[in-house]
Order: sequence, then structure tokens, then C-alpha cells
Amino acid sequence: MQRTWLIAANWKMNGSAALVDEMTSVLANITNSQLQLLLCPPATLLCRFKTARNFALGGQTLSHEVSGAYTGELSAALLQEAGASYVIVGHSERRTLNAESDELVAAKLARAVAAGLTPILCVGETQMQRQQEKTQQVIARQLDAVYASQPELLAKSVIAYEPIWAIGTGESATPELAQQTHAFIRQHLTQYDAAAAAKVKLLYGGSVNADNCSALFMQTDIDGALVGGASLKP
Ligand code: PGA
Repeated sequence: MQRTWLIAANWKMNGSAALVDEMTSVLANITNSQLQLLLCPPATLLCRFKTARNFALGGQTLSHEVSGAYTGELSAALLQEAGASYVIVGHSERRTLNAESDELVAAKLARAVAAGLTPILCVGETQMQRQQEKTQQVIARQLDAVYASQPELLAKSVIAYEPIWAIGTGESATPELAQQTHAFIRQHLTQYDAAAAAKVKLLYGGSVNADNCSALFMQTDIDGALVGGASLKP
């Protein structure tokens, strides 16, 4: 199946107002109807982007609550008001550093969809889990936690496979290895909604850069990338 590409930039806790302007003008030169570009800057920078631009904006996380006394949190509605149409959910850094459980990730994803944001669900194994040949088991658990009880959300999701050992290490998964896991993910998702599984965009993330992206994008089940470090260089 021919799916269009999505290239998403995750700025994490980096960037500046100056980078917003620089990136906006560099990206203005890109015209490709098969390619959707998405920037996920820190939330405080979302409002600095002009409304007229040729890329989408997303948040890096959201609250699973609608509104209320949740100091420091950001709701789906606030992200949307700031210009976001996507949101990253369950990034491994949040799962690890902010102790986000599979259940919380599932609740956040449901909240994003209910609000009309497109969630990018991140899944991926640690180095140790890969060595123990538990990659598929771990990813299946992360997917099941979200879709087993709410399979209707699959059609509204994007999924990013981000092996934790490849994030920020300069050691990307090989295209073959990434393809193998992407094929597993797509296959695993057919039990929830076969049509949605065929269509869902599967992004690869983990040390993607200008040198290795073409080979990754040539793989059948890789529909784009979630890029961290390299996305800060216009
Ligand atoms: P990286 O980060 O490209 O710097 O490895 C990817 C990510 O964490 O989404």
C-alpha cells in the first residue's frame, strides 16, 4: 500500500525563538505533496510559529486530564489552541524519566484522539531487552496496552518505533532491522483493525540523520521518521 511520508521533528528541550524563524524559512522551500512535515518544539515555542506555514505542529506530550488543578501540565485543548494538530505520546524519555506507565500512555492517547489531535505513539525496546530477544514481546505489550481495549483509536494514530538503544546514540538501527520490527508491528496490529493496520503510518526514530534516512525510507513498512538531534539543524 502506498502511504504518504511523515517526517516529524522532536526538538525535546531544545530550540529557541530564533530557531523557529530559521526553520520556518528553510522549510518554506520544501514542496512535496507526498511528504508531510511536522515540528514538535517545546510547548512555549508553539505560538511563535506563523499560521501560514507549510508544516504541521505538535506537542511532545499532553495530560490525560481535560483541565483543572494539574500544575505544570498541558491539556490537548491548550496544545490545539497554540497551533498543534499532533502530539507525541509515550516517548521513551517520558516513560523512563517521568515514570509514564503503559496505562497512562493509553489514557493520554485516548485523550489526544478525543480532542482531535493525531497521536504519535512511541514504542521500543532497551538494549538489554533486544539482547534477551524480547523486542517483539515488549512492543506487543506497549501496543496492546493502548489498542486492546480501544482498537478504534488505531485508525487515528501514527506509531513510531524507537529502539531506546538508538535514541541519541548515533547508532541507528539498520534499515533491515528496522523493517523487520515495523513489519512485526503492522502484522500485530491487524488483530485490532486490519484496514487501519495497513494504512497506519509507522515512523522509525533513533539517530536518523541526513546520511542514513534514504536507506531507511526505502523499506516497505517505514513511512517516515521521528527525528531528534538532527532535526535541530535547519
Ligand atoms: P534522536 O532522537 O534522533 O536524537 O536519536 C529521536 C527521538 O528521541 O525521538
